Amino acid sequence: MRKKIVAGNWKMNKNYAEGIELAKEVSNLVGNKTFHCEIILGTPFIHLAEAVKVVNSQKISVAAQNCANKPSGAYTGEVSAEMIKSTGASHVIIGHSERRAYYAETYQTLKEKVDLALQNNLIPIFCIGEKLSERETSIHFDIVKAQIQESLFHLSEENFGRIVLAYEPVWAIGTGVTATPDQAQEMHFFIRNVISDKYGKGIADVTTILYGGSCNPSNAKELFSNPDVDGGLIGGASLKADDFLKIVDAF
Ligand code: PGA
Repeated sequence: MRKKIVAGNWKMNKNYAEGIELAKEVSNLVGNKTFHCEIILGTPFIHLAEAVKVVNSQKISVAAQNCANKPSGAYTGEVSAEMIKSTGASHVIIGHSERRAYYAETYQTLKEKVDLALQNNLIPIFCIGEKLSERETSIHFDIVKAQIQESLFHLSEENFGRIVLAYEPVWAIGTGVTATPDQAQEMHFFIRNVISDKYGKGIADVTTILYGGSCNPSNAKELFSNPDVDGGLIGGASLKADDFLKIVDAF
């Protein structure tokens, strides 16, 4: 059985005090309840170490939203995978479409980030997804396949088995337009086949593939009920503890 996950991606929101408050709120709402998925909070770098301390670590993991593509040294302003690991965080979001678009992250840089994350025992949550123009010209499958091939297919079977994927169609992110359950399932099924062709069905079947893009309490259940959708990467709705928990509870 593959892991089900609901991960929040706070993006560049919440100052220090607000972020720690949100982490506590989520942890309090989770309490001792049992959910049918792993819960991850993707916080800005400044919150990581304290967020790890204030949440119930048996129930909630903490993720960074990026890491450097260099191990250490004279790279002013960057944060390395090793530094992230030292905060107690366990995951790192890599290749989010906002980073690809606004910070010119390339297949090659992302490949380096994935390698460093894995070397430091962080689980990469690797984001892929097409732009609206790419879907409209029917190249969305090719684009998503290339994103996977170019940044992940150098990995050994063992290392690929440690990756979590997040399919996030760019046109659905922060827009209020969600992929239909059929569109999500169609792409997730395609992604699983791409993995199967390279690494075999065994690995493809245990790879967790999240959906992201305007996922909220009212559409999560329907999205997650698809056989190849293993959870969600949640932006806007992860900034309110109640909404986030409703999505977690959709499993
Ligand atoms: P959204 O963002 O839920 O606000 O659309 C998702 C994401 O970018 O991870």
